[in-house]
Formats: sequence, C-alpha cells, structure tokens
Amino acid sequence: MNKLILVVLLGLASAQLQSVQTLNVTQYLGNWYEVASSPWVHLTFEKDAFCNRATYGLQQDGNLSVLNMERYGSPSGEIKQITGYAYIPNPELPGQLKVHLEGAPFEYADYWIVQLGPVKNEQYQWAIVSEPSKFFMWVLARDPVEYNLLYATQVQNTVTNTLQFDGRFNSYVVRPWTGCVPYNNTQ
Ligand SMILES: *[C@@H]1O[C@H](CO)[C@@H](O)[C@H](O)[C@H]1NC(C)=O
Ligand SMILES: *[C@@H]1O[C@H](CO)[C@@H](O)[C@H](O)[C@H]1NC(C)=O
Repeated sequence: MNKLILVVLLGLASAQLQSVQTLNVTQYLGNWYEVASSPWVHLTFEKDAFCNRATYGLQQDGNLSVLNMERYGSPSGEIKQITGYAYIPNPELPGQLKVHLEGAPFEYADYWIVQLGPVKNEQYQWAIVSEPSKFFMWVLARDPVEYNLLYATQVQNTVTNTLQFDGRFNSYVVRPWTGCVPYNNTQ
C-alpha cells in the first residue's frame, strides 16, 4: 500500500478517540480506584485481579511515578504491585501519556486520558483512560461509593454510547469494590 494512504488510514483510525485538551497534572495525582474496565483488561494485564488501584506521584525529573496495586484471586487475596513511570511526550497533547512498567513485556504503552470528571478537593473525581486502538479501557475514580452515587450512570453512558466502547471485549464492565480489603497506604 502507498505509504501516504497508510498514514491517512492510521490517522483516521486514531482520530476516533480524542484525548483531553487540557490536563492539570497536580489534580491527576494521588490514588485512583478502578471502578470499570473492558474485558480486554481482565483477559490480559489484570487477569484474576481484584480491587485494582493506581497511585500517581510526581518525580524529581517531572515525570509521574506509577504504583499499581491489586488483590490476586479474590478481594482479600494476596497483594501484588508493579511500579513504573509515565510522561507526556508532547505538551500540545497533554492527555496522551506513555507509561513504562517495570518487568512488563513492552517498553512504553499508550495511556490516553479521554475524559475527566469535575475537580473536588483539588482532584479530578473520575477519569476515562484508554489507548488509540480502544481495546483497553479503564474508568478510575477517587471514591468508588461516591462514584456510584453521583457519576456512574453518566460515565457508563458516555463510554458506551458516545465513545462507543460497545464491542464484546471493549465494553464497560463494573469492577466492584465491595469486599475489598483496604491497602495499607504506607505501601
Ligand atoms: C521522562 O521520561 C522520559 C523517558 O525516560 C525522558 O525522556 C524524559 O526526559 C523524562 N522527563 C520529562 C520531564 O519528560
Ligand atoms: C493545578 O491544580 C493545582 C491544584 O488544584 C492548582 O493549585 C494550580 O493552580 C493548577 N494549575 C493551573 C495551571 O491551573
């Protein structure tokens, strides 16, 4: 295929999903609880995982530190964790991050912040995260109980109907927090 046509086609494919146009990184830091995600996530990165939590911090070099924790096999299962870092390669596309996780079979993965909820206590309250192929999708929230009360209906509708995560493996699947044994925050 002609190289130019290929570039145009790739451009069209990635144009389907847009990332946020502004991001206040400070308001994105802290703990995030996974309240929904796509089956692609459950079949791969988070196989047999429960209670997935991500914690983002600021490193001295300006990149974000990443700490992902999960319980393995059940909501009270053994804690597993992975660390890494993330950065924004192009400041004009602040929602398109690259993530590196220690020991993962890839150097960098795309991490696109697609939509953000309102800011409360200087933190975004929810985030829809995906990547250009739209296989992997996560909805992160600051407080799973409050998310269910205030935002879940609207966010599920946005993910399913507006963003069209409506395939068998890239749909919105609720990730419950009931029964999750809390993480010790010093970890
Ligand atoms: C973040 O990490 C990348 C990749 O290692 C590096 O190129 C960059 O200089 C770091 N710092 C910032 C602020 O992007
Ligand atoms: C980003 O958010 C922090 C915390 O809410 C705030 O202090 C800061 O002014 C914000 N930065 C910008 C550029 O809006």
